[in-house]
Amino acid sequence: MSLAQIKGRSLVEPEDFSLDEMENLFNLAEKIEKDEKYLRESCRGKLLATLFFEPSTRTRLSFEAAMLRLGGSCLGFAEPGSSSAAKGESLADTIRMASSYADTIVMRNPKEGSALLARNYSSVPIINAGDGGHHHPTQTLTDLLTIKRKLGKIDTLTVGFCGDLKFGRTVHSLAKALSRYNNIRMIFISPSELVLPDYIKSILKKQKIDFQEKVNLEDALKEDGIDVLYMTRVQKERFFNEDDYIRLKDTYVLNTDKMSCAKEKMIVLHPLPRVNEISVEIDNDPRASYFAQAKYGMFVRMALLASILGVV
Ligand code: NCD
Repeated sequence: MSLAQIKGRSLVEPEDFSLDEMENLFNLAEKIEKDEKYLRESCRGKLLATLFFEPSTRTRLSFEAAMLRLGGSCLGFAEPGSSSAAKGESLADTIRMASSYADTIVMRNPKEGSALLARNYSSVPIINAGDGGHHHPTQTLTDLLTIKRKLGKIDTLTVGFCGDLKFGRTVHSLAKALSRYNNIRMIFISPSELVLPDYIKSILKKQKIDFQEKVNLEDALKEDGIDVLYMTRVQKERFFNEDDYIRLKDTYVLNTDKMSCAKEKMIVLHPLPRVNEISVEIDNDPRASYFAQAKYGMFVRMALLASILGVV
């Protein structure tokens, strides 16, 4: 395994790790999942700081569960109002301090580019848990591991992304990451107001990715042979105007009628939280993979922390 190369590195954008390094993380995550005792206590004495300037359930809890399962400890805040950010402290100063207390930092912040800034001021690795509408690379590790586990491969696939493709950082990171794999087609399904940003489209064009943009989900399910449907919520917190949010929030609702147009072997992913975009009646459909996805997120974060902290 070449996981030793990850020791001491930050993860700010999905391409910070090579495809081989990601593959090694996925293999390690599988090993951890299969053997409860593997790497238990390997991080004893190590500290993880979780600095969440924006709400989170899965990402923060799965990082904390990952660190505790590895035998390490966690400190931090889930509410910026309880940190000195509320007194006007700069992010650079907060990071300087946190990096003198902890061995690695996981940070979520509403500003695009904040993870890169944090990396520049930190003396320990920074893991980006979401910087505004920009990137969310550990969700991408989670998504890719789920695709691999459910479909047995991460190549020769048609991936449909549906919902808020403009502000959805998980979409930006996953599309960029998938563009490095072989023979991936992408179908982007969104209302015209929420299309994928141009900078992501130009990366896909440069990588010669076959992609299309559509408005109608049902048509895409019927016509495009989608293998992975990646549903997303409309990102309320990034809208300037509440009326626009209310108008767009229920554009797509995946229900049994729409699922009947999809491939029998398609998987449905969602980074969660869902609002209305996947009807609960889909939860028992064998193709619904979003809860399994959330669980894989903890195993891949265990693999990531163990590698960054150099215990594997
Ligand atoms: C996502 C996020 O924060 O970008 N959530 C997550 O980390 N699983 C998606 C979202 O909030 O819609």
